[in-house]
Amino acid sequence: MKLKADARIRAILNEIRCDTLADIGCDHGKVAVGALLENRARKVIAVDISKESLKKCHSLGEKAGVSDRLECRQGDGFAPIKDGEADFAVIAGMGGREIVKIISNSNYTGGLLLVAHQDIEELRKFLSGRYDIHKDFAVSCGDRFYSIIIASPGEGYVYADEELYFGRDFPKTEAFAEMLKAEKEKLERIVKIGCLTEGEAVTKLKEANKLCQRYGIL
Ligand SMILES: C[S@@+](CC[C@H](N)C(=O)[O-])C[C@H]1O[C@@H](n2cnc3c(N)ncnc32)[C@H](O)[C@@H]1O
Repeated sequence: MKLKADARIRAILNEIRCDTLADIGCDHGKVAVGALLENRARKVIAVDISKESLKKCHSLGEKAGVSDRLECRQGDGFAPIKDGEADFAVIAGMGGREIVKIISNSNYTGGLLLVAHQDIEELRKFLSGRYDIHKDFAVSCGDRFYSIIIASPGEGYVYADEELYFGRDFPKTEAFAEMLKAEKEKLERIVKIGCLTEGEAVTKLKEANKLCQRYGIL
């Protein structure tokens, strides 16, 4: 079976290389099953708080013929995973605050791949100074951009202010430059319509402008 993966799932799969993967919030199971189909993990423990979501992952695993290496466990965050059981974890498709809560409430110490769909600066603020950041890049998928962060506990990378909002591995990818331009245009509209002179949007716009200037993005 060949897995149908969009650009975001493909980018996530490309970064997985481990023994036992924990896919926290697995839902449809494309990451969990894709990692097994492509032999990116020997075994996957797929976790979801929702029984219905977990069923989707389980049946995709059966369809793909990888059930013998896939364990589906219902629960909150890392709660169904024993200490040391997984060496790499994906937490994708949730808000940054939810991801922070899941990591903070666990004893998990392995590698992390994180994709926050909103409040990403809250996630970066949490990681900053606590986790080594191996990658933080943007991927474009449909009409959206997603930041993919690969981190592990360590001495702690400290994000600069503009990186907290827009990521770090710039300007290595074209997707990152596109994301920055789109975000800047959106912020300019918000600031103009709201006649704002202060607040989160203004701060974020200043940081976006600094980055655009630094990298010659018009
Ligand atoms: C939007 S889906 C993301 C699916 C997949 N990870 C992806 O990125 O495409 C979010 C999933 O996370 C699950 N979820 C939300 N909070 C969770 C938690 N605290 N622990 C485990 N699963 C959770 C939801 O039930 C849902 O299935």
